[in-house]
Amino acid sequence: MKNNLETSEKTMPTVTMIGMGYVGAVSSAALASQGCHVIGVEVQTAKLKMLQCGQSPVFEPGLQELVAKMHAHGSLDATDDLTAAVKQSDIIMIAVGTPSNAQGQVNLDAIDRVTDQLAMALHFETKPRVVMIRSTVPPGTIATHIAPKLKAACPHVSVCHHPEFLREGSALKDWHHPPMIVWGSDDPSDRVAVDEAMHTIYKGVDAPHLPLGSRESELMKYACNIYHAVKIDFANEIGSLASAMGADPEAVMQAFCHDTKLNVSAAYLKPGFAFGGSCLPKDTRAMMGKAREYGIDLPLISSVLGSNAAQLKRGVDQVLAQGRKRTLLLGLTFKPGTDDLRESPMVDLAEQLLGKGIPLSIYDPDLIPENLIGTNAAYVAEHLPHLGMLLRDDLDAAFADAQVIVLTKSIQSLQPQHLEGKIVIDLTGQGKFTQQVADTNHQATPRAEAA
Ligand SMILES: NC(=O)c1ccc[n+]([C@@H]2O[C@H](COP(=O)([O-])OP(=O)(O)OC[C@H]3O[C@@H](n4cnc5c(N)ncnc54)[C@H](O)[C@@H]3O)[C@@H](O)[C@H]2O)c1
Repeated sequence: MKNNLETSEKTMPTVTMIGMGYVGAVSSAALASQGCHVIGVEVQTAKLKMLQCGQSPVFEPGLQELVAKMHAHGSLDATDDLTAAVKQSDIIMIAVGTPSNAQGQVNLDAIDRVTDQLAMALHFETKPRVVMIRSTVPPGTIATHIAPKLKAACPHVSVCHHPEFLREGSALKDWHHPPMIVWGSDDPSDRVAVDEAMHTIYKGVDAPHLPLGSRESELMKYACNIYHAVKIDFANEIGSLASAMGADPEAVMQAFCHDTKLNVSAAYLKPGFAFGGSCLPKDTRAMMGKAREYGIDLPLISSVLGSNAAQLKRGVDQVLAQGRKRTLLLGLTFKPGTDDLRESPMVDLAEQLLGKGIPLSIYDPDLIPENLIGTNAAYVAEHLPHLGMLLRDDLDAAFADAQVIVLTKSIQSLQPQHLEGKIVIDLTGQGKFTQQVADTNHQATPRAEAA
């Protein structure tokens, strides 16, 4: 589907913004300042009257001045007549509230009402339109609730999720300097129209465009906010620990933030399997012990090992779900490139599978039995003699009689043909081989990287 925006290099689009709260008011004024003509639709009479007099309905630094200027310029209008606004528009944005109830469920009443109103307004319309959902909505809302209703009413409409990342208090600045411009859409022809619309309205905004599917876009917005919440609680819990032990909380966290390689970075942020090794579990336990000694409650840090155990259990359950098949575990050390087996989650995985009677063999290029030396040979002999007996030294032979392959690390010598005809459980989530193997039997977990 072609968007009429592509034909108008000079003419900026008319945008209807439904819901003129924090997100709606800030985005409307900012879009107007970018050259769009914006019509705000609002149901609250007090907010509507303010907008119609050129006043901002919410307080935000610089917003009052910008709303007044754009209103005087004729670029920012407001109405309660959604249908009339939609008829004049090229792009429709929905920024109504999505509060949660006491049980944590998201109340989508306002979204549902607006979707129904919009479907009626778009009925019999032939002009292409792009609808962008700016509200934060649970994954699947666009694909199952919003897009089908709007497309049934009007085949010329393209629908996407377009999360907003502004923060109250610095909202205008954030709007003009976002970390990224994310949008999520599922229909390939919608993607073309949405892409054109995004490039038109954000022409002056320097940020990477990240097109996703609608579910990915919806979930990544929640992921951002949850992560921000986790960061705050993490810093607070480390701060409490520091204070109790006579250390300066700020000095600790400032030094922590200097590490942009592992701490404040994309490291350890790929979904994958459980962590292990000689440091992470031990040191988490150590500070939990100290917290108990000082009588400090650290709910976030206390939950970390439990979360890791739950991830291990998901891996075990995936393998058990295949029934009692001959299973080859690829990788036993706690991460690639090391022969360290201490607290390896793969050792736990192997032991739990053996305990459930799964016929298991193990191949790990970092643990070829005849190459095991020193501490590791002693460790296997002392702690894991039962697993040591299952170690194979030949990759091809190991594959020969295996029905289920459990990938826990990337292995150089592994070829896609090794996996043909096998049930593949990819706990690394890197999907390198599972993507290449056109095998209907295979199962893949999300992208992953073990710690
Ligand atoms: N506030 C933020 O900092 C922020 C940042 C990013 C994303 N979000 C998300 O954006 C969405 C909106 O948040 P907000 O803080 O702007 O909410 P808000 O409550 O400030 O504004 C929502 C507005 O929508 C109006 N509205 C409701 N039903 C309507 C209808 N049928 N027609 C027209 N207007 C209607 C309400 O009267 C209200 O003015 C939420 O999903 C929120 O999670 C908020």
